[in-house]
Amino acid sequence: MDVQWYPGHMTKARRMMEENIRLVDLVIELVDARIPLSSRNPDIDALCAGKGRVVLLCKADLADPAKTEEFMAWFREKGILAVAVDARERKAGEVVRRYIQDAGREKLERDRARGIVGRPLRAMVAGIPNVGKSTFINSFAGRASTKTGNKPGVTRGKQWIRLGGDVELLDTPGILWPKFDNQEIGMRLALVGAVRDDILDKQELAVWLIDYLEQEYPDALKRKYLTDTENALPQESSQAQEEEMLPPGYVLLLKIARARRLLMKGGEPDADRAASMLIDDCKNGRIGRISLDRPRDAGKMEEERLAFTAARKQEKKKEKTGTARRKSGKAPKRSGRTAGRKRYEN
Ligand code: G4P
Repeated sequence: MDVQWYPGHMTKARRMMEENIRLVDLVIELVDARIPLSSRNPDIDALCAGKGRVVLLCKADLADPAKTEEFMAWFREKGILAVAVDARERKAGEVVRRYIQDAGREKLERDRARGIVGRPLRAMVAGIPNVGKSTFINSFAGRASTKTGNKPGVTRGKQWIRLGGDVELLDTPGILWPKFDNQEIGMRLALVGAVRDDILDKQELAVWLIDYLEQEYPDALKRKYLTDTENALPQESSQAQEEEMLPPGYVLLLKIARARRLLMKGGEPDADRAASMLIDDCKNGRIGRISLDRPRDAGKMEEERLAFTAARKQEKKKEKTGTARRKSGKAPKRSGRTAGRKRYEN
């Protein structure tokens, strides 16, 4: 399944981050604790090079606690400050404040050496859509915060939030990144509600989820959907024969449809409705505390992410060189249709 999820406003949001990164001391990178690898934006590394970083694993209350522990250990091994939170809880703010102070320590020391005292730490809050940025900011900021609005040199419409004098947060719109080679990442993002699932084939997505759950949490689906009602609705023998030829994940989807009485007019299981139900339950944590990334895949996924970042860097460099050459007159400025065609031909 080909997942494309980079609408125009994301390009704008990315540009906004690029323009404002120089104004902040550190970046608070929010990821979804259920997919702490798949929800890490590879662009953030390039954007935030040289800045302090804290990774917040939000929605930890929905994730598998054992896997979250493993992920936290992995982040620590990489030297990254990481903390798992339920962003809706006030205490998340307190914990994070300590981490922010740690991440910004170097900067505060530099300030002090230059005789600058009392300047607040400025942090950019970044993450994919729906990860919990607003929720976190509300819990963190509480009543002590004041929205400081626009500042000179900052793109209009941006929100600075001052927290009790020592920290200022810059809220940013949720961003994703252009098409990824690993399509499973798109599936996982859809299953936590970060990309709209109506751009995906729901049945395919649900079958992917079923296969994954059967491997990682073999009892989860049975417990949730099949306990009391299993075989409550006997299938026709002709149906049973047909189903023998189908992939096991799809057969389980049909079984769930029957158990939940999601039937079409002729009494056949409605795979579409069952798929929608399953995806919705997954997004909202109703299947139980599950993680859709596996800690054992971390090494491989990190390699892919770094390769992606390196490729993007090259792309940017090429773009910059092209612009510089055009500005210096070394390359003729092309315009209109010819420019488009030449670019395409290159
Ligand atoms: P965003 O700014 O990054 O886009 O995310 P936002 O804070 O709006 O949060 C998206 C949804 O996720 C909200 O649910 C919010 O309550 C929920 N949420 C945020 N952090 C956590 C967390 O740590 N744990 C849990 N369980 N939920 C969290 P919502 O308003 O009901 O929206 P929706 O569910 O209808 O999308």
